[in-house]
Formats: sequence, structure tokens, C-alpha cells
Amino acid sequence: MPNLKYFSGFGNEFATEAHSGALPVGQNAPQKAPLGLYTEQLSGSPFTAPRHLNRRTWTYRIRPSVMHKPYERIANGMVRSTPFNEVETTPSQLRWDPLPLPTTPVDFVDGLTTLAGNGDLTMHSGVAIHIYAATKSMTDRFFYSADGELLFVPQLGRIMLHTELGILEVTPGEIALIPRGIKFRVELLDPQARGYLLENYGQTFRLPELGPIGANGLANSRDFHTPHAAYDDRDNATFQVVAKFQGNLWASDFDHSPLDVVAWHGNYAPCKYDLARFNCINSVSFDHPDPSIYTVLTSPSELPGTANVDFAIFPPRWIVAEHTFRPPWFHRNFMNEFMGLVTGEYDAKAEGFVPGGASLHNCMSGHGPDAETFDRASKADLKPVKLEGTLAFMFETRFVCRPTKFAMDTAARQHEYYTCWQTLKKNFKP
Ligand SMILES: [Fe+2]
Repeated sequence: MPNLKYFSGFGNEFATEAHSGALPVGQNAPQKAPLGLYTEQLSGSPFTAPRHLNRRTWTYRIRPSVMHKPYERIANGMVRSTPFNEVETTPSQLRWDPLPLPTTPVDFVDGLTTLAGNGDLTMHSGVAIHIYAATKSMTDRFFYSADGELLFVPQLGRIMLHTELGILEVTPGEIALIPRGIKFRVELLDPQARGYLLENYGQTFRLPELGPIGANGLANSRDFHTPHAAYDDRDNATFQVVAKFQGNLWASDFDHSPLDVVAWHGNYAPCKYDLARFNCINSVSFDHPDPSIYTVLTSPSELPGTANVDFAIFPPRWIVAEHTFRPPWFHRNFMNEFMGLVTGEYDAKAEGFVPGGASLHNCMSGHGPDAETFDRASKADLKPVKLEGTLAFMFETRFVCRPTKFAMDTAARQHEYYTCWQTLKKNFKP
């Protein structure tokens, strides 16, 4: 197990070298880079993006990224992309059991299954929502998405993300963000790994504005961790890089590991975050706040306040609101709500929504507590209660999440989901 070191801070300018003297001082592109390395810039935004949105990293690597055979199309497997029109999208509420884990050795790439998506990756808008389920580490195989940045939400099994810019160990309860284009391989630290993977075609995730909350709170910048440089100097095998490009998978052979960056500096880099560090702000008087109060990261659209996608969590917290129906209220929403559960129970559902499962409530479709939860919460003794051992999350998107054909046909789909609301009683007494 490598001794992993991380920098603190979200979107900071970092400078790191795995070999002393590998990082040029005072300039980006010396005539000869130190230690015989090649200089390569990785641009995560247009050169001319304003300073606060500009993302780029200078890398000093054993070989430049251009050195590989032509890419050839490979099967997309269960990966789906824009325009997500395999089946007509139903306004009905949808819910799924966890997808089964493979019974044979399957790596992260081969175990990717798309559940839903929206927007248009060619227009840099929308998302794809995948589930990864793997039983085998990638060793000489690597992956990147040119279509979007990747937000990992592990649910089962620790993973080690070996990226061009360093190594991150990610445990269920943590998230990881790998920017568009950065190559990585997924090593399993447990026999099985499963989790949710959001591919964000839109603007890069950032911390939400805090408004009257002030200078601190929600996810604090210092709790995001970016790895120190680490390189993989291997050229004794054939290495395969799988690229996701314009919705399709392509593969190319490399005669060396592409994770050969010895030093880098910049602000376009992967990071991870422990969701237990989220400073949860909640009602201490009455009423259940809008779930936007739990936003960890947001990818804005061109419309103010209308996110391409928000990532929100529902972590352990005290519930103290007085004379209040405390679980999430009944709701119809302009935005679209894809939910997953990392662990425990979600406070709006008595049963059926289980760790590794998912639900989807699209634009204007009614949703809310099931009958059992409504009944219980309506007569609960309103003393302070600590919700423990729970971690649910939501990908809340601007565009309707259109399920894939697989998502509609899979045996994991709970066709009886609607019944959880059918026993809600008429209580009206004029
Ligand atoms: Fe909702």
C-alpha cells in the first residue's frame, strides 16, 4: 500500500513532484525539462476562461500523451449516452434494487452500467448516471472520459484511484471527483466494489455559494484532498487506454503506462472528500428546509440558480424542528431527483429504498414519504432525534433524467414502487 499524501483545498493551485527537482521553477516550459521529462499542459477550460473559472495543469511526464496507436471502437457494453432515447420516459416514479455484483472477474470499465441521463454531451450540458460494479482491479488498463467529469459515490468496497496526477484511496462515505480527460485505473482494495458514478457533461463542479450562511459551512474547502504526484514507470507490457469520447468507447494500445507524470502544478486535478465532514445546516425552529441546504457540489448552468446538476447529501444529523412534519414533505419539482443510498435508511421511506438501490422522481412527478412514514411522522413525539448511520444522496438535475432501456427492463426495477403511497388515507374532516 503506497503511503498516500494529499493537499488540502478545493480547486487550489497545487505544485507537487514525486522526484525532487522534477518541477521547473519560475517557468512552465523550459527548453529542456528537468530529469529528461516532457512538458505537457492539460487544459480543463478554454485558455481565455476568466481567472476564477480557468482550470489547467502543467505536467512533467516520462512520455507525452500523444504517443499511442490510433484509437479503435470497442463495444459500449452497458454504457449509454446522449440522446438517451432508447425508450420513452415515463412520468411514473421509479425505484431500483441494487444491481447485482458480477459473479466473474469484471473490472470497472466492463462493469459500468448506465441507468439514466439527460442533456447533450456535445453541447456540454446534462449528465449520465452510471452504476459501477467490479470484482477485478484494472492493472494494465486505463480509462478516461472526454465527455464529462466523473463523480464517484462508492457504496460498497474501498477503491484506489490511480490517476495521472496521483493516487486517491476512496472509501464508501467518501466521494471522488476526476476531471474530464484525466486517465486513471481503478484498483479494488476489497473483493467487490460498487457505487454510483455521475458523469457531468456540464460546467465543472464547484462549491455552492453560501449566501447568508456566511464564510463557512456545508462542505468546507479545506476538507477536499488532492493527491501528491505519483508516477508509474512501466513499459514492459501492452497497456490499453479506453476513452469515452462522444458517447462511445474507444481503445488504444500504449507501450507504456500513461500514468507517468512525475511532477505537476496547477488547479485541474482529482480530489476526494469525506462526506462525514459536511457541516450540515438544518432547521432549529420549525419546518423542513429545502434540500438545497444539503448541497455539497454544484455544476451551474447558464441560468442563475438553475444547476445542470447539484450533488446533495442527507447525512446523519439532529432533527429538532418543533410543530413540524419532519421527514421530507410531499413534493413536485421542476428539477429532477435521482437518489441513491450509501448506507442505512432514508427518513422518507420505511422500506424498499436500500443501500446500492436508486430512485428517480422526474419533473412534476409527485413523490414524498411513503404511507407508513407519513403515519409515523404525523404522530411522532417531537423530541430532538439524532438520525444515525444513514447516508443518502441526490443528483438533482435541470433536465429530465431519461432512463435507459436496461433501467426499465432490469429485474432490479421495483414495479410495485407506486404501492408505497396507495394506502395513504383520506383524513379530511370538514
Ligand atoms: Fe423532491
